[in-house]
Amino acid sequence: VTAVRIAIIGGGSAYIPGLVRGFIVARDGLADSTLALMDVNAESLALMSTLARKMVAAAGADYRVEATTDRRAAIAGADFVLTTFRPGGLEARRLDERIPLEHGLIGQETIGPGGLFMAFRSIPVMLAIAREVEELAPEAWIVNYTNPTQMVTEAVLRHSGARIIGLCDQHAGDLAAVGAWAGIDPHRFRPDWYGLNHATWTTRLVVDGRDVLPELHARLCEMPDDQLPGGPTRYAFRLFRQFGALPNTYLRYYYFHDELVHQARQAPMTRAEEILSHLPAILDNYRREAAKDRPDPTRERGGGDHGEYAVEVINAIANDRPARFIVNGPNQGAIADFGPDDVVEVSAVVSRDGARPLAMGALPPAVAGLIHALRAYEKLAVEAAVTGSREAALRALLAHPLVRDWETAEGLLDEMLEAHREWLPQFRWEKRRTTSDQ
Ligand code: G6P
Ligand code: MN
Repeated sequence: VTAVRIAIIGGGSAYIPGLVRGFIVARDGLADSTLALMDVNAESLALMSTLARKMVAAAGADYRVEATTDRRAAIAGADFVLTTFRPGGLEARRLDERIPLEHGLIGQETIGPGGLFMAFRSIPVMLAIAREVEELAPEAWIVNYTNPTQMVTEAVLRHSGARIIGLCDQHAGDLAAVGAWAGIDPHRFRPDWYGLNHATWTTRLVVDGRDVLPELHARLCEMPDDQLPGGPTRYAFRLFRQFGALPNTYLRYYYFHDELVHQARQAPMTRAEEILSHLPAILDNYRREAAKDRPDPTRERGGGDHGEYAVEVINAIANDRPARFIVNGPNQGAIADFGPDDVVEVSAVVSRDGARPLAMGALPPAVAGLIHALRAYEKLAVEAAVTGSREAALRALLAHPLVRDWETAEGLLDEMLEAHREWLPQFRWEKRRTTSDQ
């Protein structure tokens, strides 16, 4: 059992109660550890740290909870820096979802132009944090949930000396849906899950040492369309049936793009608008629970495996208990399609030394083209986020398989740069230039 200091950047986030539940589950491995909550918003920080303190106390777990608006103070001496924040908040996400739709493209938190602008907002903040980690906690691991998680991870690896593991909880939801359909407890799945964040494929799904993917595929092929599950899983299962490998549900945004744009245009609200409309009730619940001795806040944000996943990763590193996770980090030969330093999402074994990706082989040729194009786009996107170059940003959009068209790319770029202006200090100067000035 190892007592560690965990700085939580985004400590006022509505995801905190879920995270605290994860820490309570893992209490035996991390007894006497400190959770140093940091947020720029003092009011939400006060609420979340009160909740955290009371939840920990009610569970009889030995965690010390600190709260500060001083990021350097939170990071100093940390063993782990858990990052889970959203520069610009849900209001900026709303713009990422709305503006592309007006240009005929999907508007999404992490996909397409929305994802690019999220990267533009997140990456400079993450790099500032990484520099503070280098200075104040050089041995610490950054455990990152801030989206787009893989690009954020890549930026930190390329532009700082800090150690980082990128996380995404999507596998939990996607595999739960497969398990529900197949009648198998999803926690028994050992997937060969690989590709890029929100663009992965699973080519082997081992249960008790045996790959069950071929028989699930055969079952699916016999199933009439009207018996398929609904929602995002339905699109994923149509792709599974077609390609014989299981896709990340986010791949629907590429393969069913026009249909989803059409649906999004009909919908009264974008996802961020929905969350914004639910948030007051969620926060009311948090406030009411924070007044009790034994708070039991709603699980509406980051429920399920979200918090536990990050805490289990921390536990595996802190106590050197090697365990299998799906992480974002350098490929190191795991996926044959990519170079050793390409940042990918892949099944890996995590221990004291960090993540060791497992050998996955090559992507299925029928789906590899899209993933290669996305990898090329991501590299340009990271470069643009770091340099603040409008030309680099334009190249990223031109390389994006959903955008590609020059006029669409330029129109979107200038509108989104303007809309997000206050969150994009790195673009302040160059964005006023036009292409013909260069
Ligand atoms: C999943 C994805 C995350 C994403 C989240 C959005 O967990 O893996 O990357 O941020 O969904 O959920 P929300 O409730 O904010 O729409
Ligand atoms: Mn994710």
